Amino acid sequence: MDYLQIKGGSKLNGKVKISGAKNAALPLLACTILSKNRVTMKNVPNVKDINTLLKLLLNLGSKFNYEKNCVDIDSSTISNSMANYDIVKTMRASILTLGPLLSTFGHCEVSLPGGCAIGQRPIDLHLKALELMGAEIEIKQGYIVAKAKKGLKGATIVFDKITVTGSENIIMAAALAKGRSRIVNVAKEPEVIQLCEVLKEAGVDIEGIGTDELIIEGTDRERLNLKDFSVIPDRIEAGTYLCAGAITNSGITVEDVIPEHLEAVVTKLEEMGFGLYVSKDKIMLKPAKKIKSADIITSEYPGFPTDMQAQFMALMTQAEGVSIVEERLFENRFMHVSELQRMGASIMLRGNSATIQGKIKLYGADVMATDLRASSALILAGLVAEGTTKIHRIYHLDRGYENLEEKFKNLGADVVRLKE
Ligand code: UD1
Repeated sequence: MDYLQIKGGSKLNGKVKISGAKNAALPLLACTILSKNRVTMKNVPNVKDINTLLKLLLNLGSKFNYEKNCVDIDSSTISNSMANYDIVKTMRASILTLGPLLSTFGHCEVSLPGGCAIGQRPIDLHLKALELMGAEIEIKQGYIVAKAKKGLKGATIVFDKITVTGSENIIMAAALAKGRSRIVNVAKEPEVIQLCEVLKEAGVDIEGIGTDELIIEGTDRERLNLKDFSVIPDRIEAGTYLCAGAITNSGITVEDVIPEHLEAVVTKLEEMGFGLYVSKDKIMLKPAKKIKSADIITSEYPGFPTDMQAQFMALMTQAEGVSIVEERLFENRFMHVSELQRMGASIMLRGNSATIQGKIKLYGADVMATDLRASSALILAGLVAEGTTKIHRIYHLDRGYENLEEKFKNLGADVVRLKE
């Protein structure tokens, strides 16, 4: 198994090109199930989660070619509607095949994804919405067995809670349903918006894109003619590199981004004393005279993203004063706290709130990656720690960060991947 070794203390500088968003590419790949033609997707990040979903699509019967961040895929050849446990268990987002398989074929079996490090993460809202659309759903031997013999019907869905993959699943289901669906309290994340735009380009009548209520006129199982597209940039990867610049108090630039998607992150960094200069597709971060403490409360887009919470907590260890982080989305998303404490951080946990005392000197240590974003927080801490940090179980990082060591090295960090 690989681990990352980081020697702390280097200042960073330079530019880093941001890859395509994994969380946008995943539903977009799943949405090819709805398509009757071959489609080319550009800017697809070469990360583990994408390869897992491609493996699942291959298993279902898709044909594709994946080279140089470009996926050329034909899912019209799918003949099997069973997403099996061996692949689904390795990635929760495999659940994104449920909506498209059911709406296209009228039946499917998708393994239940199971638990994960950041909390229970149920899928009850996905299932409830599909039932409202006429699906009969049973759980049998760990599988969601879903049937809609005459196809799914348009319905009014009011989500009790905002769910990103839940919204994506139901949007894809509604695209091929019979009649009109109204989806209320739908997620507004940029990744959800891109999915809607790609469906709209393919001829699906969707109103309300970018708002919390969508009206979708389904095609009654007429498969779509998807047009080629390029995946939007990864706002979380961009935010992570901005935090790397911030924690080392260095000047860096993230390129190929959509700055509008990073407003919550940029605003918080400004509040902490950094200079942020935004142009069309770049954000430049300038060092702070003094890194100031700040508080964050995670929420749905356009609020502060839970996927940036761990990285900001690492940064807060280097801010003067007390910072408070309140995690409102996932009950167990504090796995990085004990690892940061091993490096010397002073963090007190109480329920879903963490109090971080800065500024504290961090020391290199052996630490364990527990989930994707928690792992990136440990890299950030390693960049400022005295001595060497070894991050084990970095397969979590490989799920979502493309060319990680290379990008960090180009910014001047001393980061290497080694074998255990
Ligand atoms: C997606 C992102 C993940 C991000 C999260 C929140 C992908 C592949 N993953 O995850 O990186 O951290 O959004 O921005 O895009 N919930 C229920 N019942 C459900 C579904 C969700 O109670 O049926 C709850 C969850 O437990 C959580 C909240 O709703 O408390 C939000 O979760 P959700 O938006 O569904 O997260 P994911 O889509 O899994």
